[in-house]
Amino acid sequence: MISNSRLSNITAPVQHPTTALQIDQLKLSIQGQPILHEISLSLPTSGITALIGPSGAGKSSLLHCINLLQQAWQGEITLHQKSIRQWPGGDEKLRRHIGLVAQKPTVFPTTIYRNVVFGIDGFWQRRNAHAIAEQALRQAALWGEVKDRLHAPAASLSLGQQQRLCLARALAIKPKLLLLDEPTASLDPKSKQLIEQALSQLASHIPLLLVSHNLEQAQRLGEQVIFMCEGKVIEQADCDTFFNHPQRVESKEFLRWAVCECD
Ligand SMILES: Nc1ncnc2c1ncn2[C@@H]1O[C@H](COP(=O)(O)OP(=O)(O)OP(=O)(O)O)[C@@H](O)[C@H]1O
Ligand SMILES: [Mg+2]
Repeated sequence: MISNSRLSNITAPVQHPTTALQIDQLKLSIQGQPILHEISLSLPTSGITALIGPSGAGKSSLLHCINLLQQAWQGEITLHQKSIRQWPGGDEKLRRHIGLVAQKPTVFPTTIYRNVVFGIDGFWQRRNAHAIAEQALRQAALWGEVKDRLHAPAASLSLGQQQRLCLARALAIKPKLLLLDEPTASLDPKSKQLIEQALSQLASHIPLLLVSHNLEQAQRLGEQVIFMCEGKVIEQADCDTFFNHPQRVESKEFLRWAVCECD
């Protein structure tokens, strides 16, 4: 059954009238080991795209390629028709447009406040840094817990609070694209609900690429789904189609058994 599906072509990317992010033939190898194989996909200008797949599928690696944390890839990635490799001002400027909330929260060894305003740039933004920080911390459902200790070390926060701090830092730069690697994995149900609400609001005007192992969350939040396995995109579809009428045998198996046996 699986071998038949191996013969068919990998699902073509969904075409959107307005595309924010376009990835064509992306390949990544690390130390001679292939990690991503000819990934092609696109994201529309708004909405949440859930990126799902088994552990080791290459989801985090893909996110790292998109914001150039990982640079050893071949292929083409464009954001609003501009190649990210030739981004004016280089990688640092690019990361002011593409926010990444990494799987493992990484707070900088400074205060909570300085972590949030770290990436903000430009005269107007710097003048309004405090208001921007407050708004980002509110959106990340952290303001109430830190408003009286903004100048305490970020490392003094709990893991779940650090994860929300990283989200606030990404929101403060007002990204054009937000990449989220399991952003609610270490959160309690209340914080998770607040973050999900914030992400849904944000997705009304920018695209979000959200890695999640929680299929219910992917279905609840996603407008489209990208299913990856073994460094390949197996299927990209709108959420209803993927969860109710998946096209690929591998997708059906993954939805049913949470495993994928593609090669
Ligand atoms: N720096 C690295 N050196 C060697 N191998 C790596 C490196 N980074 C990732 N890999 C390998 O690439 C593959 C994909 O890893 P990746 O972290 O992208 O998977 P993932 O889909 O995010 O998994 P998870 O759901 O567990 O987070 C794995 O086999 C991993 O071991
Ligand atoms: Mg990962």
